[in-house]
Amino acid sequence: MAAEEQSVNTPSADPHAPSARTHVYITRSSEETIALGRELAALLTPPKMLVLRGDLGAGKTTLVKGIAAALGAAEPEEITSPTFALIHEYAGHMEYVGHMECAASVETSRASSLTSLPVHLYHLDVYRIEGQRQLNTLGMEELLTPDSIVLVEWGEKFPWIVAHSHGEISIHTLHGEERKITLSLR
Ligand SMILES: Nc1ncnc2c1ncn2[C@@H]1O[C@H](COP(=O)(O)OP(=O)(O)O)[C@@H](O)[C@H]1O
Ligand SMILES: [Mg+2]
Repeated sequence: MAAEEQSVNTPSADPHAPSARTHVYITRSSEETIALGRELAALLTPPKMLVLRGDLGAGKTTLVKGIAAALGAAEPEEITSPTFALIHEYAGHMEYVGHMECAASVETSRASSLTSLPVHLYHLDVYRIEGQRQLNTLGMEELLTPDSIVLVEWGEKFPWIVAHSHGEISIHTLHGEERKITLSLR
């Protein structure tokens, strides 16, 4: 396995402790981070907006490469940082087993077998956005459709994004190429 799950925490009395929906992983190369992104994609059933938190060069864009690949949305080399474009949009699909609340049509939501549904993947980098007023010009609320996965690098800068997000993926550089990657879903 390219990336190993270090621990899955259970609920605790400590309000700051990670919840049961927190998953912690260690990767030791960008390839392992892309492989982890492929695995994590299965947990990101739409609609989802997640903050991607971590210093410059932590591996946020690298992780998106794996998520996009798993969705059939783009090849890893096609994923580049949206630092200047601000938003990159990709069309992908996700395989669902059985009934899914978020299915795009009533007919497919009643299917009990494997169903492939379209997913819109939006990859944003709001590092250069200054203030809520400038953020508003992106029209982010329009991205939050039932079939969308919205991944926002530097999203923690904006309370609006945090308030509307379903959680975050944070990446810490431990040393060298080693990264600690934590997925927290609310
Ligand atoms: N374990 C790792 N996971 C992700 N990237 C890594 C890892 N080890 C080294 N790297 C390198 O770190 C850089 C991460 O860049 P990038 O994904 O663009 O970061 P960010 O989007 O967080 O600024 C890349 O050059 C990548 O090759
Ligand atoms: Mg980036």
